[in-house]
Amino acid sequence: MAYDYGALQPCFKAACLRRHYETHHAHLLRELSQALKEQDLTVGSVQCLLPGMERLARPSRQASSLPLGRPFRLDLGHPTRPSLPDPLVRVIREAGGGHVNHTIFWRSMRPAGRGATEPHAELARAIREDFGSVRTFRRVFKEAVLAHQGSGWAWLVYRQDRSLVVSTTANEDNPCMQDHVPWHQAGRPILALDLWEHSYCETHGDDRERYLDSWWKVVNWEYAARSYQIASAT
Ligand SMILES: [Fe+2]
Repeated sequence: MAYDYGALQPCFKAACLRRHYETHHAHLLRELSQALKEQDLTVGSVQCLLPGMERLARPSRQASSLPLGRPFRLDLGHPTRPSLPDPLVRVIREAGGGHVNHTIFWRSMRPAGRGATEPHAELARAIREDFGSVRTFRRVFKEAVLAHQGSGWAWLVYRQDRSLVVSTTANEDNPCMQDHVPWHQAGRPILALDLWEHSYCETHGDDRERYLDSWWKVVNWEYAARSYQIASAT
């Protein structure tokens, strides 16, 4: 995390942000590490596991411990090797997804008053093109946040057809999990907002609208612009 726990007030109380990072996020990472360790597997990029986790073939014995920094062998649908065990796939989806989601979430924010307060560069142009205006994008995002039932995440997503879309996912699902999200909401995350109660109830009660209103003030538009630039260049 690139800022102090108190740096995102009043959107997040310092104690709430500390607990979120040191307890919730850390727990997800521990759970994922433990499950991979039990299977004698190491991964260089958790993100690489998410898109087709059910179809990943278990690496051969020699390849089961890949050096850190190298991506996991994405061996989709290998005819002779078994897929990963179901309990591990479940942990990858929940804890791995949670780890990736929170990592994007922390990067989607910066202290209020530091940096741009609106989308800029190519991202601003794309938002205007796909939503009509930044104001409409914010309205669509708010409607999605308020309509979402239960725990989950709200996203600005860059789809494979090169358009932007607002979506929400349940629990710890990520838009890159193409087997678990509707096709029209699948893609690469540009911004993430945590809709789990542990993220906002301590600071805002159950008022998601107030949470979102204060979140806009700490959105890291530089990060979003970079994410868009990378996603749209590949
Ligand atoms: Fe969270």
